[in-house]
Amino acid sequence: MTVYNVVLFAHITSVIIMFAGVTADWLAVAGLRGTRDAGPARAWIRTLEISAAFGPWARFAVLGAGLYLAVDAWSWPGWIIVGLISWVAFVILGEPLTGRELREMGAAVRAEPGTLPPALIARLQLPRLWQAVLARAGLGIGVVFVMAVKPPAAVAGVAVVLGALAGYSSARLSSRPGRVGTHPREEAR
Ligand code: HEM
Repeated sequence: MTVYNVVLFAHITSVIIMFAGVTADWLAVAGLRGTRDAGPARAWIRTLEISAAFGPWARFAVLGAGLYLAVDAWSWPGWIIVGLISWVAFVILGEPLTGRELREMGAAVRAEPGTLPPALIARLQLPRLWQAVLARAGLGIGVVFVMAVKPPAAVAGVAVVLGALAGYSSARLSSRPGRVGTHPREEAR
């Protein structure tokens, strides 16, 4: 057993935890899109907060271990550069689910006792939250393909872009009227 093996184990374990965060965000945003009451909304916001508490650590562990692996045994082939750029995109896409926006939504929901006012419901159901969740999931799956297959840079680039686009498109399609989790007001956006 080498240090490389242990760091690869740490990298893959961190990736699993990172995807646990993606799943939690997915459930929470889907839950927020389906509720108009403060009680369930508080529970889903709490789920987002828990994900935001461990997600950044997992992402940085993925990066740290990935950089070690890259420096130790690889001379920066294209697929690793694509993985690095995708990691940055993954972090940026997550901003609406973790940063100031989440704190503001949390405070607003906790201040409401019963049925949420329409403006707050609209904010909790902003399409870009749903789009961020699904685009991130697709991008993440694209990166797993890149890491496992280690294709040439162009193929790696296409894989992650296709993954992110597939996630984004499913978010757009599942926001249409007549679909599960549909909210007519989103059509205007
Ligand atoms: C979204 C972010 C990432 C995900 C989902 C991810 C996923 C994975 C997975 C599943 C593996 C195991 C592949 C295998 O053993 O065949 C792996 C390996 C690896 N990853 Fe990542 N990774 C990510 C980010 C990064 C970053 C940012 C770097 C470097 C800068 C990196 C560098 C590596 C390297 C060098 C390996 C070693 C492959 C080997 O020895 O077979 N990864 N990654």
